[in-house]
Amino acid sequence: MKNKVAAPGSLAKNFIVRLFNIYTTRMRRLTNGAPKSAEEILDPLDARFRSILLSMYRGEPQPGTDGQIHPIDRTTKISPSQGMWLYDLCVSIKPKATLEIGMAYGYSTMFFIAAAAKNQLGHHTAIDPFQRSRWQGIGLAHAQALTSTTTSDSFRFIEDRSDRAAVDLGRSDSIFEVIFIDGNHRFDDVLVDFYLYAPLCAVGGYIVFDDIWMRSIQTVVAFVRANRAEFVEVPVGQSNIRVFRKVRRDARSWRHFRKFDVSRSSN
Ligand SMILES: C[S@@+](CC[C@H](N)C(=O)[O-])C[C@H]1O[C@@H](n2cnc3c(N)ncnc32)[C@H](O)[C@@H]1O
Repeated sequence: MKNKVAAPGSLAKNFIVRLFNIYTTRMRRLTNGAPKSAEEILDPLDARFRSILLSMYRGEPQPGTDGQIHPIDRTTKISPSQGMWLYDLCVSIKPKATLEIGMAYGYSTMFFIAAAAKNQLGHHTAIDPFQRSRWQGIGLAHAQALTSTTTSDSFRFIEDRSDRAAVDLGRSDSIFEVIFIDGNHRFDDVLVDFYLYAPLCAVGGYIVFDDIWMRSIQTVVAFVRANRAEFVEVPVGQSNIRVFRKVRRDARSWRHFRKFDVSRSSN
């Protein structure tokens, strides 16, 4: 039997069709599967918050509380999608009071106050002992400028360590519906933040741990999962945070203890 030989015209046609298929598959991957840009992710935000956040995500120098413009490092931040997760949570549950430990340049702060502005409800507290000394007051300057037109009590800054601030807040019976833990990232500091702020979390409220890529934070999360049944983990589609909802008050006996895993993954 003779081998079939394709006509030169049809070979060229097949080649063009194959090239076209490869091109359209790549384009489809690029348009559908490609990660969204910060511009796209932050699109739902009010323009005042969006433009400052985009400027910061671009790494542009920012004003501090001293009135000067300062360069910023590009690593100290939460991601746009993490920020939008916090924003969406606050827009959906409409908290009366939110709190964050660790402000730095104020990325997370801006998502919280953007949600309060959208809700026309809510008071946000940010705690950071090094806001002026280490971060040139950049987060604070933005937060003050953005809340100066809203009600005067929509934002409060506490320039102190989270452990000391927790005692004062506890004494004044403060309660928060969302608490974002993103301060000192050592194991004992994060565990102490959780221990001190868990009683200040409203029943039905949320505690969010940032930077779950770190072994210290993974280990605190393992402790909470194993030992604090009043906090139920909420699955979220964000790789770098873990979220717990407080469903009742702490009712453990004085000798309660369950073993938990110390993270071994490398970081
Ligand atoms: C990773 S940064 C926070 C980033 C911020 N949440 C954001 O989204 O831009 C950690 C912050 O925790 C602050 N910090 C360190 N020790 C602290 C403490 N004991 N209490 C409160 N904040 C602390 C640091 O000054 C720093 O601003």
